[in-house]
Amino acid sequence: MFRARHLLGIEPLAPAEITTLLDLAETYVELNRRTVKRSDALAGMTQINLFFENSTRTQSSFELAGKRLGADVMNMDVAHSSVKKGETLIDTALTLNAMHPDLLVVRHPQSGAVDLLAQKVNCAVLNAGDGRHEHPTQALLDALTIRRAKGRLHRLTVAICGDIAHSRVARSNMLLLGKMEARLRLVGPATLMPSGARELGVEVYEDMREGLKGADVVMMLRLQKERMDGGFIPSEREYYHRWGLDAEKLALAAPDAIVMHPGPMNRGVEIDGTIADDINHSVIRDQVEMGVAVRMAAMDLLARNLRAERGRAASGVMA
Ligand code: NCD
Repeated sequence: MFRARHLLGIEPLAPAEITTLLDLAETYVELNRRTVKRSDALAGMTQINLFFENSTRTQSSFELAGKRLGADVMNMDVAHSSVKKGETLIDTALTLNAMHPDLLVVRHPQSGAVDLLAQKVNCAVLNAGDGRHEHPTQALLDALTIRRAKGRLHRLTVAICGDIAHSRVARSNMLLLGKMEARLRLVGPATLMPSGARELGVEVYEDMREGLKGADVVMMLRLQKERMDGGFIPSEREYYHRWGLDAEKLALAAPDAIVMHPGPMNRGVEIDGTIADDINHSVIRDQVEMGVAVRMAAMDLLARNLRAERGRAASGVMA
């Protein structure tokens, strides 16, 4: 079961849709480990990646995902495009729409921009991160990583730590893990906590040691300095001392706790480099691997819905 026409966020998804997507992604994990990584799920379709914000792993992950499914993939280099000449988001969308893409992958610095764009085009739109709003494929790849490591998502204690206020990764993860009945904790300085966090039915900790006690999953977030206008943290040194993940703090989590980070990491700011590389706990590389599989599954499911919709429209015209 997967009814969505676009993947704009986790918010509108039903738990069964999330499970469908993760189950399909498992088959793509297998495919991606073969020498010949090829499916024709998107054969003949056109995928455009439109990134208004810098990205390394997300854009390359979407590009590889589309290519492995047989789509024609184009990366729009927005930094050198007519957007720089003052074209509006909607004009860019309508221009691209006229080229008949089937899948449009969009990242934009403003919350809600991707939803707006989706209303103007005829193809399936995937949100690759919009402002502080959502980053659905990141939450889905995190869920797949957790499910493979722990065998389930429900009744796991997940501590999301650090710069939560500025993080679309945290927001999408909170929505997804809440729907899948995990126990959520938010850990970080009060200045980096979203307003109303306590009303969301999650536990909030300012003390990292308290927040990590017995946690099954420790999800670290990057300190998003580019989204801050000063005064959020005392200093990076002080931040690392109180909220940086090191061996001593991690020892308070469950003995088999996994450590996650969406990347890019600031080693020595939110996470100690040796913890990030510790194969006994860190699943940071697995997250990157799961990212390609989850994006393949998402685009495959949206393409199926798109074909069905176009099929219905065509038979409607003939009748
Ligand atoms: C995240 C993002 O862009 O929201 N990165 C990513 O997609 N891997 C998190 C971040 O930038 O810190």
